[in-house]
Amino acid sequence: MSTSDILRVEDLRIRYEKGRSIWGIPRYGDVVHGVSFSVKQGETFGLVGESGSGKSTIGKAILRQIPVIGGTITFDGQRITDWPDGQTPLSYRRAVQVVFQSPRLSLNARMLARDTVAEAVAFHLGYKGSQLDGHVAQLFDDVGLPRHFGERYPDELSGGQQQRVAIARALACDPKLVICDEAVSALDVSTQAQVIALLRRLQQERGLSYVFISHDLGVVRNLCHSVGVLQHGRFTDLGSTQSVFERPKSQYTRDLLSAIPRVPGKAA
Ligand SMILES: Nc1ncnc2c1ncn2[C@@H]1O[C@H](COP(=O)(O)OP(=O)(O)OP(=O)(O)O)[C@@H](O)[C@H]1O
Ligand SMILES: [Mg+2]
Repeated sequence: MSTSDILRVEDLRIRYEKGRSIWGIPRYGDVVHGVSFSVKQGETFGLVGESGSGKSTIGKAILRQIPVIGGTITFDGQRITDWPDGQTPLSYRRAVQVVFQSPRLSLNARMLARDTVAEAVAFHLGYKGSQLDGHVAQLFDDVGLPRHFGERYPDELSGGQQQRVAIARALACDPKLVICDEAVSALDVSTQAQVIALLRRLQQERGLSYVFISHDLGVVRNLCHSVGVLQHGRFTDLGSTQSVFERPKSQYTRDLLSAIPRVPGKAA
């Protein structure tokens, strides 16, 4: 493990129960077959591949939401796969956060945007009163959301504004790694570019690392330092974004690349 790796995944294997036989014996389906990659501190690793290839499953394993059947995940020098299932230290739950595709589903519709962020700050940092208010206001500033938007409910915000609230909530506990699972996929192209610019700025300011899950190769090329192309739970290509995009090894990656209508340039 290089000292600059914040996350290292080695030979990861994951299976789901796919129902039971008439005798009640569980049947399993393997969905991740020995995947290895690493993410450097302050960099973005892109996880791309067709629907059902196992991208979110790998994200869930890093978040310790599902068990793994083999391999290791090492975060910041700690082998997290050695921890018993269901026992995840709070320090890890703070250090690794997630932002999903649909902020409408991940935000509580009955909670003001401000309270959504305040709840996370109060839980993780224990702040109260003016210290809490000040920290929440700072987080709104950090994600480029005018403070008065805090007095709105999710339905009163645009998709991009909702995603900024979700990012502010994820940042509340000062994480080191954020899993972005299709975090910009539901946004229109110009809002997508703004949120990507925000993610990049936050990375520079905070030294954040991202695992950026996406089916959009144009976005991945724009944002990611390295990339793994997943098909049926195996990497068909893995390496620096430049090498994978310019010299793809597999026909599958070449086919995916040829399906991109036009690769956008670096968005501001
Ligand atoms: N809880 C579950 N139980 C059983 N099988 C599951 C479960 N979750 C996912 N799967 C299966 O595992 C495989 C990988 O699913 P996963 O959600 O990781 O794909 P994905 O690459 O994120 O796809 P998408 O781009 O559509 O989000 C799929 O075949 C899916 O049907
Ligand atoms: Mg998914």
